[in-house]
Amino acid sequence: MSQIATNVLTALLEARTGQQISAYRSWRLDTALKPLLRDRKLDTLDQLVTQLLEGSDRVIGDRIVDALLNQETSFYRDALVFESLVEAIADAEAKGRAVRIWSAGCATGQEPLSLAMLFAERHEQTGAPIPEIVATDVSAAAIARARAGRFTQFEIQRGLPIRRMMRWFDGDGSDWIAKPELVKMVTFRRLNLVADPAPSGQFDVVLCRNVLLYLAADTKRCVFATIARALRPGGLLVMGAGETVIGQTSAFEPSKRFRGFYETPPPGSTTLTAGRAAA
Ligand SMILES: C[S@@+](CC[C@H](N)C(=O)[O-])C[C@H]1O[C@@H](n2cnc3c(N)ncnc32)[C@H](O)[C@@H]1O
Repeated sequence: MSQIATNVLTALLEARTGQQISAYRSWRLDTALKPLLRDRKLDTLDQLVTQLLEGSDRVIGDRIVDALLNQETSFYRDALVFESLVEAIADAEAKGRAVRIWSAGCATGQEPLSLAMLFAERHEQTGAPIPEIVATDVSAAAIARARAGRFTQFEIQRGLPIRRMMRWFDGDGSDWIAKPELVKMVTFRRLNLVADPAPSGQFDVVLCRNVLLYLAADTKRCVFATIARALRPGGLLVMGAGETVIGQTSAFEPSKRFRGFYETPPPGSTTLTAGRAAA
């Protein structure tokens, strides 16, 4: 692949999503775009880039971006987070209001559907209300898949206990389809965290896990600021197991109430997790 093709593809991804593919990860381009090349009956990435630049095919840019996004996910990923979330949601409910959760960068839906199952079962057992769950992703293809609720045998086996699979999914050939009442508990929509405003209204918890790892520092700070504005006072940010806000933004600090979660510093606080961070 020519350097020009590499540059065009990485620039396209970054312009559309903020995601950076650095030189040492550029091998990803070949692997990720192979199925698209096959589909388009093309031999090389240079030919794909030529088609893109000709501008005759309006969807090719979307297909390239979708293929390059890392959409790795699973049901109940980092299971302990879900236990802490039940406590955090109960705490928010104790303030006497309807609780709202935003799954930002939800990929193909496993994260918000895990939440929906968890809180629907809690409702059956205790009568506690089911929080409103809004789930967004920059990838229209991922959102379409999430709304369809269709998972392969491989996907369904990743993290989902058999009891829940039988309770909430119907088999269809070798796939499994989420029951409509489960999918209905989640509002799915396309949203680009680096370009669009947050969904309307304020949230008690935002999960933004394994989404910001490859964003440039300034872009990341803007996304943290967007999330901070979307949270109610005392609201919580949940990130991926290998992620932190420390040294990245002054908009969040580690929560003193819920270990591993983050919250906005109290008004007037001088706590800064990044000295030069402006967001
Ligand atoms: C690795 S997956 C993580 C999915 C899920 N949060 C989890 O932890 O299992 C990252 C997701 O972030 C989405 N994403 C990347 N850049 C984004 C952006 N600028 N706005 C919204 N979503 C984005 C990708 O499309 C992908 O579905």
